[in-house]
Amino acid sequence: MERVRLHVNIDHIATLRQARGTRYPDPVGAAALCELAGADGITAHLREDRRHIQDRDIHVLRETVRTVFNLEMAATPEMVGIALEVGPDIVTLVPEKREEQTTEGGLALGDEAVRDGLATAIGKLKEGGIEVSLFIDPDPDSVKYSHELGADIVELHTGDYCNVVRSGRVLEIQRLAGAAVKAASDGMKVAAGHGLDYPNTEQVAAIPVVEELNIGHAIISRAAMVGLDQAVRDMIVIIKAAAYS
Ligand code: PXP
Repeated sequence: MERVRLHVNIDHIATLRQARGTRYPDPVGAAALCELAGADGITAHLREDRRHIQDRDIHVLRETVRTVFNLEMAATPEMVGIALEVGPDIVTLVPEKREEQTTEGGLALGDEAVRDGLATAIGKLKEGGIEVSLFIDPDPDSVKYSHELGADIVELHTGDYCNVVRSGRVLEIQRLAGAAVKAASDGMKVAAGHGLDYPNTEQVAAIPVVEELNIGHAIISRAAMVGLDQAVRDMIVIIKAAAYS
């Protein structure tokens, strides 16, 4: 069995750079180190407010990433235009609020206006040959709407699982597993992410149909202590063990 793939989100390398307005640390260099350490893909979120990743990063990453380049973005006309120009392998569509610290939840697919906006964006991206992933809450309706919208991949939001007290984790894993199985049976690939850390990733990686994890903050934080190469390798050990158990 192929192990679950690790896509490292490098946004917070750019956060550190933007904190001082310097040219370092460069997320492009970080992406290369992640790949050398065994990461299967690189994820970067170009936010409307450009708080961390910049347009230049996206263009250079497209030139340099040797694995899979996953661009996270909101489904706005501006972002769709950038994605079509840059041509990432995957676009992950996420909800975006200006004031939030990080993405707070999955796409509000119960809202018809949201679905209409997504349908337009998905159509253009797929026409441009880009695989489309939708970041959704792990519930059956969100999976159903994603399928109807023609998503290739769903990324299940693991935030609730990560935030719940230990005793509530079993229930959250069941929710994630239920959504994952439904998505896979609808023919979509299943990814997961948000808030995953070294102690809590194992259970998510062990969900049989989960193929890919997007992990950022925990890996970049650990990198500040032990180095990026070691931080990526440590996470791969956890994922590999879980996926084979
Ligand atoms: N997946 C999505 C859709 C995200 O928006 C983020 C945060 O940018 C992540 C995964 C990674 O989350 P974290 O930084 O908590 O690992």
